[in-house]
Amino acid sequence: MTAKFITVEGGEGGGKSTNIAFIKDYLEKAGKTVVVTREPGGTPIGEKIRELLLDKDNTDISAQTELLLMFAARAQHIERVINPALAAGKWVVSDRFTDASYAYQGAGRSIPAERIAVLEKFVVGELRPHLTILLDVPTEIGLQRVSERGEHDRFEFESDAFFRKVRDAYHLRARQDKERFRIIDATLSLEVVQIKIEQALEQLCQS
Ligand code: TMP
Repeated sequence: MTAKFITVEGGEGGGKSTNIAFIKDYLEKAGKTVVVTREPGGTPIGEKIRELLLDKDNTDISAQTELLLMFAARAQHIERVINPALAAGKWVVSDRFTDASYAYQGAGRSIPAERIAVLEKFVVGELRPHLTILLDVPTEIGLQRVSERGEHDRFEFESDAFFRKVRDAYHLRARQDKERFRIIDATLSLEVVQIKIEQALEQLCQS
């Protein structure tokens, strides 16, 4: 059976980290070799790009620059981590991928989706996740959770309106690709969230 590519998406405060650890554990128990990675980041150069993107002191990054940096990190990530891992039969679990660019730079920063699609074609080619888990949380609740964390990155200073647009964009993408997406209500208890994740993984492991 071929290795699968799983992405986890959502706005801020959806519990991605905890649930990615759960996914890794589940897959390893099912006998898979798992690579957990993230965007922006996942490679040494990608992590440097991430620092530029998340540094709250970089207050003057244009929307286009932000988009191109996301895709520069992604190019390195795909070539050096994702494709080699999948080719070696390893399952890849990425904390965010291209859907985030459509949601944040597309909806959030008002860059036309068609322009992002050009970059997607150029950088990502035909690669698509087999499963995308969207940890969905109402904007106010997500931002409340983030504010309790203390330190904030550059994105976390954006307005409620920005994050509402991001959330709507994720919903739209999920509606357009029902096969790939599983929307999970991240306001439910962790136990219930993880039962739902388990169901999605079970199905993927059988496919
Ligand atoms: P994280 O906080 O989930 O690690 O993600 C870092 C931030 O980067 C998050 O606010 C979302 C943002 N982001 C984009 O704006 N576009 C992208 O393509 C990716 C991958 C992340």
